[in-house]
Amino acid sequence: MFMPFTYSSEMQLSRQFCSYCTCHGYIRRRINSLNTYLMIYFILFSIMIYYHSLTSSKTTQFDIQSSSSSSSSSSNRIMYVIRTSSKFYTTRLKYLLQTWILLVNEHVYFITDKILPNISYNHFILTEKICGHEKHAMNTLCCKTAHDFIFFHRYLTKYDWFCHFDDDQYVNINNLEKYLSTLNFNRPYYIGRNSWSKPLNRLKQPYPYPFWFATLGAGVCLSKYLVHLLEPYTRNISKFINGCLKENYHDDIYLGFLISAYLNVTLTKNIRFHSHLEKDFYKDKQKFFKIFTEQITFGFFYPYNYPNFLPNFYQSHLDRSHIRTLHCLLYPYIFECQIKIRQYLLNMTK
Ligand SMILES: *[C@@H]1O[C@H](CO)[C@@H](O)[C@H](O)[C@H]1NC(C)=O
Ligand SMILES: *[C@@H]1O[C@H](CO)[C@@H](O)[C@H](O)[C@H]1NC(C)=O
Ligand SMILES: *[C@@H]1O[C@H](CO)[C@@H](O)[C@H](O)[C@H]1NC(C)=O
Repeated sequence: MFMPFTYSSEMQLSRQFCSYCTCHGYIRRRINSLNTYLMIYFILFSIMIYYHSLTSSKTTQFDIQSSSSSSSSSSNRIMYVIRTSSKFYTTRLKYLLQTWILLVNEHVYFITDKILPNISYNHFILTEKICGHEKHAMNTLCCKTAHDFIFFHRYLTKYDWFCHFDDDQYVNINNLEKYLSTLNFNRPYYIGRNSWSKPLNRLKQPYPYPFWFATLGAGVCLSKYLVHLLEPYTRNISKFINGCLKENYHDDIYLGFLISAYLNVTLTKNIRFHSHLEKDFYKDKQKFFKIFTEQITFGFFYPYNYPNFLPNFYQSHLDRSHIRTLHCLLYPYIFECQIKIRQYLLNMTK
């Protein structure tokens, strides 16, 4: 504000001065224009410094905010990748979108054959072209699981834990968060449920030893450090699929093999993860009621394996497998659940 004033008054002064001494006019004019250039340069320079100080203070503020928010909300550091298929949207995925996914929406990503309704475009990878027609075959499953790692590697700096779930699973996100917060993601962790009671026996080279693997159907979580260590084997789709085919293992067994044989990391077993294949889980109603609030995942397999003894808070066609009812039992303070529970109790006591 001060500089422009001096600049113009000096101009006037020098103009007056020059009208008296025309002999030195040329030199005066040269000095004058030099002064003008210096002045403009100085002003621009000041503006630049001022602007720079503004923007840099903005970025430091932003950095502080972003780092404090990420350190304070450890709950947001889990990435959920769900393997699904368009043909299961209305029979499976819809129920997850109405329940647990609502609670962690922005951290959930999908591996699917075709575009799905109500899912934002940057939250899914389409696999139909690469993995071929939907089949429960070994290479299709390996191909889809290989896509998990595309997401895992893409968001390696954003998340600390990387979990895979199937579209027939309910995840108690609070229990998952609580459990993972007890472990250090800077160490290699491979967490899940062993579906067999014995390790898989292996005699072949390059690793002729038995090893444990976690069934993907119960959900599997990997720490950030383990995902980093797996990079050479999961870098691209073909690398993972070729590995699966060479070893002749299904996707979850192959993952267990990679982690045991190449990284020397053993499975951290967690029996609070459950798959739809677990026959006894919903058999004993009393036991279920005793333990269900502590479980991390639940598998559903309608009409064979689901908690059919639960009361249905919804009309049965809106909650076939009682997933929404289970959700309300776990989160009774959610507004919609309060209404449903009240309605149910009113009907009961009519
Ligand atoms: C998908 O979105 C539409 C429109 O927003 C809504 O009517 C429908 O209930 C949603 N479906 C699910 C499963 O959330
Ligand atoms: C996948 O990765 C392997 C080894 O890291 C490399 O040799 C191969 O060319 C890659 N393939 C593609 C399609 O990028
Ligand atoms: C694998 O890890 C175990 C301990 O977890 C260690 O005793 C063993 O030496 C390791 N093996 C190799 C080949 O690094």
